[in-house]
Formats: sequence, structure tokens, C-alpha cells
Amino acid sequence: MQWWRDAVIYQVYPRSFADGNGDGVGDVAGIRARLGHLRDLGVDAIWMSPWYPSPMADAGYDVSDFRDIDPAFGTLAEAEALIAEAHEIGIRIIIDVVPNHVSSEHPWFRAALAGGPERDYFWFRKSQNMPTNWVGEFGGTTWTKVDDDTWYLHLFTPEQPDLNWEHPDVRAEFESILRFWFDRGADGIRIDSAALLFKDTALPEVTDGEPHPFHDLDAVHDVYRSWRRIADEYADRALIGEVWMPDVERFTNYLRPDELHAAFNFDLLGCAWDPYKMRSSIERTLESHAHIGAPPTWVLSNHDVTRHVTRYGRADTTFSFDNNLDGTPVDLELGTRRARAAALLTLSLPGAAYIYQGEELGLWENETIPEDQFQDPMYARRGHSRDGCRVPLPWSGDEPPYGFSAVENPADPWLPQPAEWKDRTVQTQTGDPNSMLELYRSAIRLRDFTGQELTWLEEEAELLAFTRGTGFACVLNLSETPVPLPEHRTLLLASSPLDGALLPRDTAVWLRL
Ligand code: NOJ
Repeated sequence: MQWWRDAVIYQVYPRSFADGNGDGVGDVAGIRARLGHLRDLGVDAIWMSPWYPSPMADAGYDVSDFRDIDPAFGTLAEAEALIAEAHEIGIRIIIDVVPNHVSSEHPWFRAALAGGPERDYFWFRKSQNMPTNWVGEFGGTTWTKVDDDTWYLHLFTPEQPDLNWEHPDVRAEFESILRFWFDRGADGIRIDSAALLFKDTALPEVTDGEPHPFHDLDAVHDVYRSWRRIADEYADRALIGEVWMPDVERFTNYLRPDELHAAFNFDLLGCAWDPYKMRSSIERTLESHAHIGAPPTWVLSNHDVTRHVTRYGRADTTFSFDNNLDGTPVDLELGTRRARAAALLTLSLPGAAYIYQGEELGLWENETIPEDQFQDPMYARRGHSRDGCRVPLPWSGDEPPYGFSAVENPADPWLPQPAEWKDRTVQTQTGDPNSMLELYRSAIRLRDFTGQELTWLEEEAELLAFTRGTGFACVLNLSETPVPLPEHRTLLLASSPLDGALLPRDTAVWLRL
């Protein structure tokens, strides 16, 4: 059963989902206690951001042991219990594997610094000057000096040394890690920074028109072919790549039949709220995936990007790490209206839909976190912090921590929650037919499009309208004016109230035909 082809997959960011022990940091106990929320929402799978032992230089994407759980989050036994409990209620678990780098506290890197043969597992270079002028993925330089003339490579922070994927031991280690988690019941693997693993060993500078020295080198595909063979030894396991790649053809190379099952499509996420751009992004995605026979994926938010309620409420509705819009004016009402419409759009397009925790509550980016509370290492390098989308979830009650921590008198949540979130808790939204939460619940309940082809209804781009099979249509009005609905039998869902019989702007409906 190829569940990943049309699943609704919910991203849990463990630090911020729910706190079982009251220390202000989310944990596995908290997730277990709140699994009912995910059952009620109706999701098919959970993707768990990293929960491994880590010094947390990059919120857990600096892993020091891939076969255990960080004590802040719990124990391996608790993680196994969570997997079993999720399976009992029909929810699959995807875990996050970070193959490009490890923590500088990982035993391999410590041994490497001590001069052991593990040095070859990394990129150490002797050189008077910095070996290259590469700019890292968070901005800043990519080499750190360990003594007079020796440097090591890190595409992210210095606490995340890059692994040398030319080395067979590195390959063997990750194959063993995959088996470790598949043996424990993981249904899928999300592959972090999936296109960065290989580097040009000649270490050339980045030059326009020349192959990039560390993005998307061909050798990476051989690794994913071997991972696919391992996944195929088990039943129903999926490999899902985090592949940021503007070139659609290079992107779909990762989805060849003997490679990854799926990859995150960030094209629509970066796209402006604009009828022409959105339609062409959707068409490009559908065509390129159909071509290779892989399922498209739809992502509006995750733990790295500005929450889409905020994005869609700004004058510039695009997203890119190179275009910092922090602090520009936001119309949250407009952003929420569009976010509701976007949910109906993405939940009815062919393929799998990803929901980032809190998007089902209509949370926005917290842009009021005091600078001295920022924890994200990206802030120092790019002047943009991802903390605003990582704020602990509001569950119940009128004041922080809004039920985030399950004990009396808990520590403050690790990041502050806005006062306005008292209207965004799971408790207040439950049963309110106009809430974002009930919209998501209804849409996921109604969503049943397996095998139903998409056909565009409207040539006019300003109306994004399509059918799935013969009995269902989604219509999103991106024009300035209200428009009549196509002929239908039943109005199943509307993202905002209709204007008489007309569909107002920035509103989507689901229709039974
Ligand atoms: C992508 C992850 O989503 C992000 O959070 C992390 O900082 C980088 N990869 C480095 O692992």
C-alpha cells in the first residue's frame, strides 16, 4: 500500500508540541498524551523533527547519537511506545535523519579532533588560508580552524561538521541507522538537506555557469538507490527528501523509481499569492511529477519558514531565505483568510499534503520574541530567526502556557507565546464551525480522492478551479471580484462565508457535483 502517495502528514516539532514534564520544553511524553489531537484531526502520519541526543546548536539538527533520544525529550523506550501507540490508532511515524552533518559532539568528530582515523569521515584540509570562500547555508563562512593550518568544513554552523560521503564507513553507518529505525517500526524517513551530501573534492569556488561544488552532485543518487533497496526490504516504508531545488528536472531526478518515494515541493511555498504564479507553480509541479510517476507534495509551512498566515498577510507574499521581510506590516485577518483558502486548495490537489504543527490552529509567526531570547543559529548569520514559527502550541486556557505543559506551575515555555493565542487554542476552536481547526478537521475527513484525476475547469487563471474525478470540484477565487459558483449539487466546505450565491475573493469552496 503506497500510503505516502496521498497521505496527510503532520509535522511534529518535538520541542514545541506538548510538554509532559513541565520544564517548558516539549517532549515525547507530551506527544503521547496529545496523540488524540492528531487522531481527531484525521492525519495519516506524523513526521517527527529530530529527537536524538544533541547539544541543540541547531535545535536538534546537530545529532550526537542517531540511535537514542535526547534526555530533554525522553527515552528510547518512550519513543518506541509512541510509535506503537500511534500505530494502534492508525497513524504512521516518519523520523528525521540528518546525513549531511553530525554534531561536533558526535563521537566520530571528537575522535577526529583527537587525531584518530575518523578524520577521514569529515572534510579536514591543511591550508594557510581558508580553503574556499563558500557561503554556508545559513550565510557566513563554511570552514573553522582547528589548529595553525587545519580547517574543517561545515555547510551550516561550526557545531555541524559535514560528513565525507566518499568514505564507505559513512555510507555503512547510515544504512545501519535506517535499519535501526525501520526495525523499531518507523514507517518513513525524512532526509535532511538531501541534496548536499557530496562535495567536489577539488574544492573549486562557486562560479556562475560552472557546476556547483556542493549542491546536487550526481554521486548523491547512488546513496539514495542503496537506501531505497533497504526500504524495499521492509513493507510500506517511504523515503522523503528535503530537496530545495529550483530546477524541476534536477528535483525530479531524486524521485526516479529506484530512489526516493517523495520529496518536499517548496515551489508553491515560495510563490506569491498571485493567480498566475500559483497556477503555473501547481501545473509545473503536477506535470513534472506525472512525468516521473512520483506523487506531488504540498507544503505551506514548516519549522524553517515564516508561517503562512503571516506571509499571506504581507504586501510581499513570497518566501525566500534571501529576502528578509521580518517586521514588515502584516494584516493577520487577510493572511488568515488566505490561509484558510490555501488549506482547501492544497488538501484537494493530487498528492500528499504536509501540515506543520499549529497551522491547523491558524497560528501566525510570533514576531514579538525579544532578540535576546532567540535560539536559532541562523539569526547571527542571516539576521533572520526561525524561532517565530517554532513557538510552543496553545492547547487550552486563557493565558500562557495555554496548556502546553501538563503540570501545575510549569517553567515558562522555551519561547514566549503571544497573548492573542488565547483565541487559537485547540480547546476554544473545538466545536466552533468557523474555526481553522474545524476547517482542517472537516477537509481531512472529506478528503478522499484516491485515483481521481485532476481536470482544470477554468481557463481563466484568476479562478483556480479543478475537478477530481467526476463528482468533486475545488474553486478558489483569486480575482478582485466575487464570481458565481459552477453548477453543483452540494456545497461541502467554504473557507469564508459566501456573498449570497457568489464566491468572494480569496475564498475557496469544495463542491459535490
Ligand atoms: C534543514 C532543516 O529543516 C533545518 O531546520 C536545519 O537547520 C538544516 N537542515 C540543517 O540540518
